[in-house]
Amino acid sequence: MVLLIGAASFLGPPVLKKLLENNYYVNCLVRTDSDRSRLLDAARSAGKKITFSTGNLQSGDSIISAIKKAKSAVYMVDLKYTHLLETFLHTVKRTGLKRVVFISSTTVLIPLECMVKKQKIYSENLIKNSGLDYTILRPSMIYGCPDDTNFSKMIRFIKRKGFFITFGSGNNLIQPIYIEDVADSIVNVLDNKKTYQKIYNIAGKDPLKYNEMLDIVRNKLKKKFKVIKIPIKLSILLISIYSKIFKNPSLTPGQIERMAINKSYPYDKAREDFNFSPVSFEDGIEKLIKELEA
Ligand SMILES: NC(=O)c1ccc[n+]([C@@H]2O[C@H](COP(=O)([O-])OP(=O)(O)OC[C@H]3O[C@@H](n4cnc5c(N)ncnc54)[C@H](OP(=O)(O)O)[C@@H]3O)[C@@H](O)[C@H]2O)c1
Repeated sequence: MVLLIGAASFLGPPVLKKLLENNYYVNCLVRTDSDRSRLLDAARSAGKKITFSTGNLQSGDSIISAIKKAKSAVYMVDLKYTHLLETFLHTVKRTGLKRVVFISSTTVLIPLECMVKKQKIYSENLIKNSGLDYTILRPSMIYGCPDDTNFSKMIRFIKRKGFFITFGSGNNLIQPIYIEDVADSIVNVLDNKKTYQKIYNIAGKDPLKYNEMLDIVRNKLKKKFKVIKIPIKLSILLISIYSKIFKNPSLTPGQIERMAINKSYPYDKAREDFNFSPVSFEDGIEKLIKELEA
């Protein structure tokens, strides 16, 4: 039995589907008010049954029986929540569970200091010292399902407004990963002992410039749209003002700074150890556009 922790996240349903297709029994750890509908849909489309355990990572006691039942686990809660990981690692010690795949992020590799990066590095260190048979996967920006907050959001915006706003010149590199490639990676490392106690970057097939990505989106959408480019310094100034005016700003100056840096991530180790072979951005975005149109 595999325990999916953070199962109701946007990553949960595709991971669940792949696990079921590969004949794993899956128990999904969810909170009382988590939305289970997409997990039930994924199970239905794989023609398999799943179980749920209700618990909150804030309390070890509420998750211990779910952990005890599991032979392995996939931890998909954001590692920036260091206290939740600490509770999980403490609780695991009270059980016989040894094998856990953790989803981190390439944020730990960016050449900028920020709180999220510090929190994730701290969490990765806790995992490395946990005594578990861990594998840490570090995906780059994930896209490819209607709930992703990256390209799905962008495509919907372009379709509605007919334009798009970018911060900076657009000459920086990005290497987003298609969600199915993340799900495949999880399934391919789960029982692969070669991947124990290792960390892998996983990203899209090739890095591409942000502007090239926009051209591909334009071609695949078959729709002309304007791109309004705001110079990076002005963007940071505007977002600083905006984030002071609004209580819960959807963008922060730090995010703008991170958007403009080069993000390309070699994945040779992943290719060697579990045949990681991601799709190109052209293919991934085409699938996403079709899914959004269906
Ligand atoms: N978005 C990207 O481009 C990207 C890139 C790289 C890596 N990732 C990684 O992908 C994973 C999923 O991303 P996400 O943004 O959906 O992560 P998230 O915001 O941490 O949510 C993941 C799940 O964690 C659950 N959760 C949160 N607090 C909990 C608690 N106290 N007890 C039990 N469950 C709790 C949530 O449950 P509820 O459904 O009940 O809220 C949700 O289903 C994360 O590990 C993230 O770091 C994402």
